[in-house]
Amino acid sequence: MLELKDIHYQPATSHKAVLNGINLKAFQGNPVVIAGASGTGKTSLIEIVSGVSKPQKGQILWHNKSLNQRQRRWLCGVVFQFPERYFLGLTVAQELRLGHRRLSNKDQELALSKVGLKNIDLRQAPERLSGGQQRRLALAVQLLRKPSILLLDEPTAGLDWSVRNEVLDLLAQLSKQKVLMIVTHEPELFKNWQTSNHNLKYGKLSEMTSLN
Ligand SMILES: Nc1ncnc2c1ncn2[C@@H]1O[C@H](COP(=O)(O)OP(=O)(O)OP(=O)(O)O)[C@@H](O)[C@H]1O
Ligand SMILES: [Mg+2]
Repeated sequence: MLELKDIHYQPATSHKAVLNGINLKAFQGNPVVIAGASGTGKTSLIEIVSGVSKPQKGQILWHNKSLNQRQRRWLCGVVFQFPERYFLGLTVAQELRLGHRRLSNKDQELALSKVGLKNIDLRQAPERLSGGQQRRLALAVQLLRKPSILLLDEPTAGLDWSVRNEVLDLLAQLSKQKVLMIVTHEPELFKNWQTSNHNLKYGKLSEMTSLN
């Protein structure tokens, strides 16, 4: 179980606080979808949980033990809103092997099939993939790290409906094995989450002091 306790955050370069006393519990099998308008602090929250930034006040706990920033980086896999901006490999295969130099061909195949990319050409540049495929590749890269917590920033933004549904199905599957937290400005898409959405936990960032 991931728990956020009274998280307060004000970026060093910001005049005002972005997060004011966020409380939240997230469990494996119960994906959490957090909605909020632009500028309300969704990405900031992901940065805090994943250990990119540090809150001024509050605790982040994993199975009731407080985590420091480094531990959070280990535990969390993050897929950012525009993952294509962070690709470093010249090819899909290289992208998967970053940080996993000894990745066997079998594990590579497994990683890709998990995200439904079994048959893509591994020698092509990640940038040549479609938007949905790029997001899947970014997800595959994160899954190779075997994170216990998976954080997704606007996973449906800019995708057309068919690709979007594929991504949603994949996330529903993953939520059974991971603590999954999604931030989005289009929460209505998740209300009809097709598979296993009965455990979905849904809240607005502005009301998260009551999301427990
Ligand atoms: N490093 C920073 N320095 C200064 N201000 C920041 C920083 N990070 C975030 N902010 C401010 O905090 C607020 C929340 O930003 P954040 O990116 O978390 O919002 P968001 O909900 O993800 O927005 P969007 O839906 O547009 O992605 C914004 O007003 C932003 O300008
Ligand atoms: Mg954002």
